[in-house]
Amino acid sequence: PAPGWSISADVVVVGSGVAGLTAALRCEAAGLTTVVVTKARLDDGSTRWAQGGIAAALGEGDTPEQHLDDTLVAGAGLCDEEAVRLLVTEGPDAVRRLISTGAHFDTDDEGGIQLTREGGHHRRRIAHAGGDATGAEVSRALVDAVRARGLRTIENALVLDLLTDATGRTAGVTLHVMGEGQHDGVGAVHAPAVVLATGGMGQVFSATTNPSVSTGDGVALALRAGAEVSDLEFVQFHPTVLFLGPDAEGQQPLVSEAVRGEGAHLVDADGVRFMVGQHELAELAPRDIVAKGITRRMQEQDVEHMFLDARHFGADMWEHRFPTILAACRAHGIDPVTEPVPIAPAAHYASGGVRTDSLGRTTVPGLYACGEVACTGVHGANRLASNSLLEGLVYAERIAADIARERTENGLHARVPEPVPCSEKPAHPLLAPETRFAIQRIMTEGAGVLRSAASLAQAADRLEQLHAEARGALEENGKTAEPGVDTWEATNLLCVARVLVAAARLREETRGCHWREDRPERDDTGWRRHIVVRLNPDRT
Ligand code: SIN
Repeated sequence: PAPGWSISADVVVVGSGVAGLTAALRCEAAGLTTVVVTKARLDDGSTRWAQGGIAAALGEGDTPEQHLDDTLVAGAGLCDEEAVRLLVTEGPDAVRRLISTGAHFDTDDEGGIQLTREGGHHRRRIAHAGGDATGAEVSRALVDAVRARGLRTIENALVLDLLTDATGRTAGVTLHVMGEGQHDGVGAVHAPAVVLATGGMGQVFSATTNPSVSTGDGVALALRAGAEVSDLEFVQFHPTVLFLGPDAEGQQPLVSEAVRGEGAHLVDADGVRFMVGQHELAELAPRDIVAKGITRRMQEQDVEHMFLDARHFGADMWEHRFPTILAACRAHGIDPVTEPVPIAPAAHYASGGVRTDSLGRTTVPGLYACGEVACTGVHGANRLASNSLLEGLVYAERIAADIARERTENGLHARVPEPVPCSEKPAHPLLAPETRFAIQRIMTEGAGVLRSAASLAQAADRLEQLHAEARGALEENGKTAEPGVDTWEATNLLCVARVLVAAARLREETRGCHWREDRPERDDTGWRRHIVVRLNPDRT
């Protein structure tokens, strides 16, 4: 539909997690008029759910170089080394700036930042807050800062599409605002710079640690806008997600890697520590290796979950160090103080996303991306634990600096370009909201933690069928689902699922978190490269 109202700004930031709000605050501090648009409430995204913390070389004896080495090893040969170098060298100061913005991290007796370990890290370098509530504290601090600075925010607003001018340059976004207020309905924010910070796409699978809003909206929007997307096949499955039954759907409670970092053991149905001997770091091996180890042992023992045993922590440590996890377990009738916790892997993080350069620029001029929606090159084939909040901080700051520099140097951002009217774009077939569950089942069965050519082919066929039905209904009788958040979410999920499966079929090897049972070896001769996808924006 054509926008019924419009406003203008220098920058529109889409999304309100660590990346979006950091970008917005830094843009505002640089004197740019900034509008934040977010699909639900300001604190409803994935950031709030992050437990473990933020990785940065802050500890005595640690260095960015060591952090770089661990990140490259986890990334299984596909990290962009320069992107990682920027992350680890700028990371410590970015964390200090977050602290200046108002975030409180847990400290030791001398007042220094307390650091823990997680999978793949050879050192204690994970800063945490509230024990295991790091994301909640980061989100609180940033939301408070945004409110204190009086930044303009539009909540409950689903961004539909990118607006571009006649030259193909970004000109803003169209959005659908729900609820009461002066901006209800379909509107537009005109701006020469758009920062996508919409988070991940975990909801493309049945069981995920991601909240219900993580539906791949930014990647789908970028694909519709003709931007390049890379590495979508690399979906990270978190090894230790509380197991609530084989049919559990939607967001599942995370049991942070930090629990293993503090000494918890993974044990099988017989109580045996099965990761010992599989990797020098045992339970603290990189995440893909632990997820594979758990899945293999589940298959061998023909069981639905393994256990995380941290009874030896005792009640005091559980209550003070991991209060969030303790409460979640107890809410489901499990007491980690007295019994091992049932866990299984679940979808957790999209290592790929909208392809950017080191300044967060996508391949569409004026369109930037940061946070989970982006593929900056720092994660490669498997993100190192707790590098994501850090990436959000560092690359959001780089983006804000680039937008400010562009404006000063060439004035590009001083004007609002005339957008091409929406009516000139082809109609988009929208999916009925309930299609979401069909997509999740297809993806979990065919493209989950363990994949094969056959399972992926079947998933691709079933997804194509859903797409053909929606397209057919539009072409034959002009019918499409009623526009709204649910329909757009289902539509975006199908869009990202199709590309993810196509990439996973192409990558005929096992690397990082992409595990093909029919191609169990890593193939450095043929596959030490990226799968980059760009759709023709005139096709839907
Ligand atoms: C966790 O706390 O285990 C999650 C950390 C992360 O995903 O980086």
